[in-house]
Amino acid sequence: MQIQHNISLKPYNTFGIDVVAKHFVTVSTLKELTVVLENTNYPEKFILGGGSNLLLTKNVDALIIHINIKGITICSETEDHVFVQANAGENWHEFVLWSLQHNFGGLENLSLIPGNVGTSPIQNIGAYGVELKDVFYSCEAININTKNTETFSNADCEFGYRNSIFKQDAKGQYIISSVTFKLTKRNHTLHTNYGAIKNELEVMGVSQPTITDISKAVITIRNSKLPNPKEIGNSGSFFKNPVISTSNYKTLLQQFPDMPCYKVSENEVKIPAGWLIELAGFKGKRLDNYGVHQKQALVLVNYGGAKGSDIFKLSQIIQKTVKRIFNITIESEVNIL
Ligand code: EPU
Repeated sequence: MQIQHNISLKPYNTFGIDVVAKHFVTVSTLKELTVVLENTNYPEKFILGGGSNLLLTKNVDALIIHINIKGITICSETEDHVFVQANAGENWHEFVLWSLQHNFGGLENLSLIPGNVGTSPIQNIGAYGVELKDVFYSCEAININTKNTETFSNADCEFGYRNSIFKQDAKGQYIISSVTFKLTKRNHTLHTNYGAIKNELEVMGVSQPTITDISKAVITIRNSKLPNPKEIGNSGSFFKNPVISTSNYKTLLQQFPDMPCYKVSENEVKIPAGWLIELAGFKGKRLDNYGVHQKQALVLVNYGGAKGSDIFKLSQIIQKTVKRIFNITIESEVNIL
């Protein structure tokens, strides 16, 4: 473990933004992480996981701690369930593939989400009808102040839509070192209600899907809509889908009769931000070397060499325009640094 100086962060963020980290260290064990946390030469520290939910707008002076702690352990099992602990530095999709190879069910709808296991609970990643909270059993996290390891149960995490305690009250106070998942060994619960999955399974000619079939369908859908960060820099959905009151939605329908929505509760609906951004005229818009993805307006892209600050400015213009047209505030899902 060696602290490096003045290195490019381009390989460490899926947006592919080329900013410089003044100090950077990769930790591969819990022990190394504890040692770095105790290093008082660098009072300011920034924790970096898979860099898939991050827009870097400037050079970083803090010590960047890149979490690369690997390892997957089967902790215990019953006839129906298995408890699997994955360390924070495991790549999310590789972990999903590992679970499918073992015929463990629960993660298949979350295939191909960029990022690492350790950051998955922070924003309660979700896709195609499943959220992390549905398979999350517990996680271990190091309290940055006390350096003690604490265990968070599912309830402790206070999961919500792209939200958890780690984005709220506990923000910046913990480093998640491992996550334990409760997965199924048989009688898997299949989530195939999402329209796109149904269609894709039909195209595949599958009427009785396995968890691997669902994963394949999700991978095909994601590849058809979302840019591959290895080819075009991006951070998935840049914005969250806004939740508005049902009465506000009804008023908006008079002006925008095609506005889609998903019911959240009796009084609230969620509006696809991609629809709002598309209607505001930004879908596929390209400014120099960055812009809005052609197939999914929720995704901002770096075509190569873009500045994070330019992408951030574009995101602000989009927010303002959506607010002006619909009087709806869309919040970014991505962390801006
Ligand atoms: N839509 C448009 N134009 C667009 C994009 C979307 O009109 O350019 C409308 C369409 O009406 C479409 C609806 O939005 O039917 C929903 O689109 P989609 O099913 O692609 O889902 P989403 O709301 O855009 C959310 C998540 C994705 C997740 C998908 C599938 C958020 C912020 N995003 O996107 O998550 O993969 O559902 O479950 O909740 C991510 O967080 O990085 C991410 C990709």
